[in-house]
Amino acid sequence: MTETANAAGEKPRKRLFIKTYGCQMNVYDSGRMRDLLTPLGYEPAEAPEGADLVILNTCHIREKAAEKVYSELGRLKPLKEEKAASGGAMTIAVAGCVAQAEGAEIRARAPVVDLVVGPQAYHKLPEFIANVHRGRGDALQTEFEVEDKFDALAAPARQIDGYSAFVTVQEGCDKFCTFCVVPYTRGAEWSRPVDQVTAEARALVAQGVREVTLLGQNVNAYHGAPPAGREADGAWGLGTLVRHLARIEGLARIRFTTSHPRDMDDDLIAAFADTPALMPYFHLPVQSGSDRILKAMNRKHTAAEYLAIIARLRAARPDIAISGDMIVGFPGETEADFEATMELARAVNYAACFSFKYSRRPGTPGAAMAGQVDEAVKTERLARLNALLAAQQTAFNQSMTGRRLPVLFEREGRNPGQIGGRSPYLQAVHCEGPASLIGHIAQVEVTGASQNALSARLVPGETRAA
Ligand code: SAH
Ligand code: SF4
Ligand code: F3S
Repeated sequence: MTETANAAGEKPRKRLFIKTYGCQMNVYDSGRMRDLLTPLGYEPAEAPEGADLVILNTCHIREKAAEKVYSELGRLKPLKEEKAASGGAMTIAVAGCVAQAEGAEIRARAPVVDLVVGPQAYHKLPEFIANVHRGRGDALQTEFEVEDKFDALAAPARQIDGYSAFVTVQEGCDKFCTFCVVPYTRGAEWSRPVDQVTAEARALVAQGVREVTLLGQNVNAYHGAPPAGREADGAWGLGTLVRHLARIEGLARIRFTTSHPRDMDDDLIAAFADTPALMPYFHLPVQSGSDRILKAMNRKHTAAEYLAIIARLRAARPDIAISGDMIVGFPGETEADFEATMELARAVNYAACFSFKYSRRPGTPGAAMAGQVDEAVKTERLARLNALLAAQQTAFNQSMTGRRLPVLFEREGRNPGQIGGRSPYLQAVHCEGPASLIGHIAQVEVTGASQNALSARLVPGETRAA
């Protein structure tokens, strides 16, 4: 360690600013980076001005996401100079998927960067940063050491910052969809052992967390080492893990994301029926409704197989809300292929669905394919798809009007006297209510709905603070 303790034996305080881009796994990773740095005296800052350490935790999924990093680095340059002029030093690290994908190019393009650290190497941040301060060590750290990483992170130091928390249970992807960078940035599929996941979930619940969302790039491919004493079981699947976690006292709600249609099994579908803590909301990306395009995407399933999974889920849990991801304008997509996507969306009737214009990613097979679709065509198709998805989401939300729902209140609302939380179906809910309900589940009656939220009132007398 480079810093010396002051007279009171306290380490000097340093300001840490982390900016997070991309998916929920990056949000989780940013939290863990903060945890790792807290014992070194770093305290979270709301803004980069004057920070001692700035970490950009980046996303490479679409071109726009990756380019944001460079504009942010441009904004950080004068701040780093100001800090130096006042006798201090601002260390700038680029972490996450752009770090993994672009590596040394980042420092070539943005010399302001001191350290590039990939998503499988960040558990060694304290060592890397000490090396930067000493002017030694390698500024590029992009080894794949996923197992070491989770061992190093095994004891969560996290202080509670909400009642809903992420827990990564699986990382990496072996699917190689032809549009996607994730198999290259996150490496091969790997599952954390059940005992490690359980210990982390317990520690979070002990801090007041009421809901965990299990994360993985292919979370339903989970096959973790069984708990000690249960070695004979062999690897546990996600359904078994969910039932195991549901027994943690105080853990009211479990969710998971993101799943792949190819990894759906009966046991996981059954868990939606037999495990009340597993919330009735399921995110199952399909990407396209055209079998020809699905094949070119290397999704390894058809539209009919996807619809059959949705039907099985609905048979097991009739009220389950389905969400998904769609890509428009994949190379070779014709008007008829796009119409098949619209048709599939109509058949599913999504509660929520994310839609993206295909973005050509260097190094992926899709980038080299013939038949790249015109930007204007992509824009026009996306608008048509979005109009359909927005109408579906609005209709889903409006179908809740007049119903009673249990809401996990997580925060104060926008207006004074308001509190906000989530329904079982992941809808944002706002209602008048006391701040003392935050961190608790209470019954509400839905009084109104828009595309993005429900308004509600607390059910008098029945408010069950659990
Ligand atoms: N592992 C998850 C999430 C992958 S990234 C999964 O398999 O679903 C999240 C979403 O981004 C994907 O589902 C896809 O819809 C979208 N996406 C990925 N690569 C893309 C690209 N090159 N262009 C546009 N959208 C993309
Ligand atoms: Fe990307 Fe496909 Fe893997 Fe999802 S399943 S992370 S879309 S390669
Ligand atoms: Fe982006 Fe990496 Fe997540 S590319 S979506 S941050 S896995």
